[in-house]
Amino acid sequence: MPSDAGLRKRKKGNNSAKVKSEAEEQDALVGLLNGGTGKTGFFLYIALVLGTAGFVLWQNPSWSNQLLSFFGSSTPSGTPTSAPTGSTPYVVDFTADVPKRQAVVDAFKHAWLAYERDAMGADEYHPISHKGSNLSDAGGIGYTIVDSIDTMQIMGLTDEYERARDWVEKKLDFNKDGKFNTFETTIRVLGGLLSAYHFSSDPLFLDKAKDLADRILPAFDTPSGLPVSMINLAQRVGVSDVDNRGLVSTAEASTLQLEFRYLSLLTDDEEYWRKAEKVMQVIKGAHLATGLASIFMNPEDGRFVLAAIRLGSRGDSYYEYLLKQYIQTNMTELVYRDMYDDAMNGVHQHLIQKSYKAGLIYISELIPEHNRMGSDITWRLSPKQDHLVCFFGGSLMLGATVTGAINPPVSIPPQQHEFTEQGWRDWNTGKGLTETCVKTHDTATGLSPEIVHFRIPRDGLDGTVAPDDWYIKGARRGEPPPYDARYILRPETVESLFIAFRLTGDPRYRAQGWSIFQAIEKHCKVPTGGYASILNVDEVPAEMEDKMETFLMSETLKYLYLLFDDATTLPLSEYVFNTEAHPLPIFNPTIRTGFS
Ligand SMILES: *[C@@H]1O[C@H](CO)[C@@H](O)[C@H](O)[C@H]1NC(C)=O
Ligand SMILES: *[C@@H]1O[C@H](CO)[C@@H](O)[C@H](O)[C@H]1NC(C)=O
Repeated sequence: MPSDAGLRKRKKGNNSAKVKSEAEEQDALVGLLNGGTGKTGFFLYIALVLGTAGFVLWQNPSWSNQLLSFFGSSTPSGTPTSAPTGSTPYVVDFTADVPKRQAVVDAFKHAWLAYERDAMGADEYHPISHKGSNLSDAGGIGYTIVDSIDTMQIMGLTDEYERARDWVEKKLDFNKDGKFNTFETTIRVLGGLLSAYHFSSDPLFLDKAKDLADRILPAFDTPSGLPVSMINLAQRVGVSDVDNRGLVSTAEASTLQLEFRYLSLLTDDEEYWRKAEKVMQVIKGAHLATGLASIFMNPEDGRFVLAAIRLGSRGDSYYEYLLKQYIQTNMTELVYRDMYDDAMNGVHQHLIQKSYKAGLIYISELIPEHNRMGSDITWRLSPKQDHLVCFFGGSLMLGATVTGAINPPVSIPPQQHEFTEQGWRDWNTGKGLTETCVKTHDTATGLSPEIVHFRIPRDGLDGTVAPDDWYIKGARRGEPPPYDARYILRPETVESLFIAFRLTGDPRYRAQGWSIFQAIEKHCKVPTGGYASILNVDEVPAEMEDKMETFLMSETLKYLYLLFDDATTLPLSEYVFNTEAHPLPIFNPTIRTGFS
């Protein structure tokens, strides 16, 4: 496992972009995304018409719509599958489940107190060796602490909060001569400071947020305005990612906007807003007609490069923030809604599949491959789903109630007649995907693996080794577990359960969240303090890895707490959560978006 694989939560080491000439890449991308991906059976290799045809389509997006409908598309979940019940088959009860909520608070304290005892001030915590480590030799910038503060505020842990605040006041110093990831530092540290400020009105947090953001801003100084992947906080210069040809992940470039926009509101300084918004303008300008995005962009020219298309690592939060930017600005910025609608149509047309036996909804990936002649690019649909994709179930449900409601707000639970056709489609896909993610916890530990593959008729697996619809690729009895088999305390499924519960009041979401929590308690809890990742979700007793990801305290335990708390805490009509679960308030913007 690369040393940074844990921290880089949206990134894994094995997906660097392939080297091809830029012109070829553009042709292939444009050809795919405008030309349609008609499918026959499961795998269809899409031969792309390169050159003129692709170029013409690129210039004339309206043609491509016709082409898309000509090719047709398989959208298994696009058709409503269940009629509205009319009456709700359960009692909607949003009062807190106090004992379960308390159990989550106890877990948070078990994690925090161990970190504080062994590693206070270090960016990351290793609960088995009882050590801390920093992301840079220049010293830490409080990743774990700052990521955890708003959870303490929400849980009412005042003593812990005071000690964390004290560290921020006396020790936190961003003047570090080392490289930090632009995106991770923004979502975890800047996001954490902004939420801490929102809940406390303590100017300390806003001063620190401003200092950090000012050091990050130079990352946006590129010819296109897309940020580079890393930033030296002391020198205030952006640093390109040489491992990936200087490219930036699409999700990394497009998951800074909630934080920078809110900071603009608080400081009355438009620069943060403009820099972050420019990225969205560039992405819109790079426009691929289906609304889908490849996972890498070039900060030099602001274009997509030929790379996978997926809702997992490096792609995920692009889609998340399209919706959330529209929500954050109190549904006044229609450009984000348009981009979101476009993207959701693309997802339904190209990526959504149903598993072969039980009909579980999942999201596949599109992988570009060279054909035998070596000249053309074909796109392969891969039935691989990262755990990261599990944020998307709740996101689709939330999006349906916001962008797909005829007269918002919708009821709890919403009824079919309250939705537009697209809203109803997104709602059902979101519910289905959430259900699928819960089913991927059907393992020996009750925890879900990092990556699942869905079975497709062609792979001729022997049905004895795994549940029928999905499996962990490379897992074999008696052999070391593959990378895919691990659970690293990720939040995405419980995040979707929290949102689904708030939008439906259906108690089964609480029950499912409770099962996952209990599995974490049973298999990841280190008796001496802290929680650890496990290497194989299908092995009991589980073998631990010496790492407690910061998102355990910022996301996983926060979403679980909120799932069992009274629904008046942080209502979804007033807050939007950044991709690291830091809640930011919805506001009516005074600055308007400068592009459409
Ligand atoms: C990490 O950085 C912090 C802050 O600079 C420092 O106090 C701590 O000693 C460092 N820890 C390690 C393990 O290097
Ligand atoms: C959002 O807009 C609605 C109606 O347009 C308004 O009533 C509400 O106060 C706004 N919310 C915020 C937080 O400004």
